[in-house]
Amino acid sequence: MSLEGQVIIITGASSGIGKATAGVLSRTGMKCLLTGRSVEKLESLAATLGEAAVCAGDITDPQLPERLIATAQERFGRLDALFNNAGIMNIGSVEEADIEALCHMIRVNYEALVRMSYHALRFFRKQGRGFLINTSSLAGLKTFPRFGVYNGTKFAVEALTDSLRMELAGTGVRVAAVAPGRTRTHLFDHWPEDQRFDPADGMLDPEAIANAVRFVLEQPEDVAIPRMLVMPSRQPT
Ligand SMILES: NC(=O)c1ccc[n+]([C@@H]2O[C@H](COP(=O)([O-])OP(=O)(O)OC[C@H]3O[C@@H](n4cnc5c(N)ncnc54)[C@H](OP(=O)(O)O)[C@@H]3O)[C@@H](O)[C@H]2O)c1
Repeated sequence: MSLEGQVIIITGASSGIGKATAGVLSRTGMKCLLTGRSVEKLESLAATLGEAAVCAGDITDPQLPERLIATAQERFGRLDALFNNAGIMNIGSVEEADIEALCHMIRVNYEALVRMSYHALRFFRKQGRGFLINTSSLAGLKTFPRFGVYNGTKFAVEALTDSLRMELAGTGVRVAAVAPGRTRTHLFDHWPEDQRFDPADGMLDPEAIANAVRFVLEQPEDVAIPRMLVMPSRQPT
């Protein structure tokens, strides 16, 4: 199905998977409304895309979802899809983990995604069509030691996505998740050097995830891909 002329909101668009997805979808003729906190990064990305606009903000701001939906309509006159992708990754052992950082991650990775989803889905329900696609993770399907709270946020994204998919089946509103394995982005920049993943175990370029998002969105209306897991072939876990 052609995506040309459709409008998508992309959260976490200033970096990594969101940025790559903006590039891939823009090349299909989609118009992207980019959000994230880094205005300069978003604006320089927008300048490289076809039709794109920026509406910056902190994803934990409860006013942001309605502002994004209103901006999409003002700038482009329509809204067809939402890519709920903003996220952070804080991990650590029981003894060492920063509890405030973990709880902030719950707000970014899950509470904000819930708020964004419900506002967009109410809009999509009224117009009788729309596509919600969430970034989950391999860590939303299996757990790892020291990752428990991050795992929890991504298991929650998987649960919400599957519940909404069933609730909205047959309404014209489609819901899916893309679950990346290890991907070369800025997600781990704040991790200590000695705790980083070994590149020899494989790391995807973010474009691999962006291409999966495109594939899911391009399916004809009678086809659903509820979840797409995309991993480096060498990833051992
Ligand atoms: N990289 C991987 O291996 C991997 C694997 C599985 C799943 N994921 C998921 O992929 C998604 C994208 O992450 P990435 O890997 O592309 O990492 P990234 O390069 O660090 O990008 C994260 C994005 O989230 C945005 N963000 C973070 N906190 C925010 C906040 N408070 N308000 C608004 N935006 C915020 C950042 O924008 P600003 O800093 O400009 O606000 C940035 O655009 C996340 O949900 C992550 O959990 C990644």
